[in-house]
Amino acid sequence: MKTKPRKRHVHIAPSVLAANFADLKHDITTAEKAGADLFHLDIMDGHFVPNISFGPAMVNTVRRLTSLPLDTHLMIENPDMYLEDFKKAGTTRLIVHVEVCRHLHRTVSEIRSLGMLPGVSLNPATPLSVLEEILPYVDSVLVMSVNPGFGGQKFIAASLDKILRVRTMLDSRGIEAHIEVDGGVEADNAAALVEAGADILIAGTSIFRAADIRRALSAIRANVSF
Ligand code: DX5
Ligand code: ZN
Repeated sequence: MKTKPRKRHVHIAPSVLAANFADLKHDITTAEKAGADLFHLDIMDGHFVPNISFGPAMVNTVRRLTSLPLDTHLMIENPDMYLEDFKKAGTTRLIVHVEVCRHLHRTVSEIRSLGMLPGVSLNPATPLSVLEEILPYVDSVLVMSVNPGFGGQKFIAASLDKILRVRTMLDSRGIEAHIEVDGGVEADNAAALVEAGADILIAGTSIFRAADIRRALSAIRANVSF
């Protein structure tokens, strides 16, 4: 039997990693006008993931181009060293990976006390059991649907079932946290992701590398407007 789509507002978060850095203003304003709800920024350190992207300066650049919320995704070792820097840069929601946080409760609490919303992210091979104790404290759970490090990778199909299980965990505990999905998100899989329980769709390549940013974003929106 097909799952009945849930009625919750779906947020579309274009991922800046895939934008044209030489004309960020164009890409950010075009995506905002096309109906983006927030922007996603991938911070990669060349240690936790095999790629280096950008740091707080880029978050601050985007902060000056839009007033939409900014989702900063830390794919770095020692995130605790940089929480304040990302707050100062203009982050709204700060997401850390459970795989690098030895004292996850402390990190999440610190993010909140700095005035940001805390999110936790899980690599594809990380089991959901790590969420058991931390769920009541987070604003979002980010399910990686590719191995983190690069844009433009193929969506890992098993992520759909993982999202469904996070949704069950949240609903059974009466917790209101968001479920974000990150990696290989496009118009063709958006509806299935929302049906599984995701409500924040992060999409880089399928939006910013499309021939027409506005049409690409609208195509995702059309498929999740039930
Ligand atoms: C991957 C990043 C993603 C990336 C998604 O490590 O966390 O946010 O930008 O890119 P696409 O949508 O191209 O898979
Ligand atoms: Zn990301």
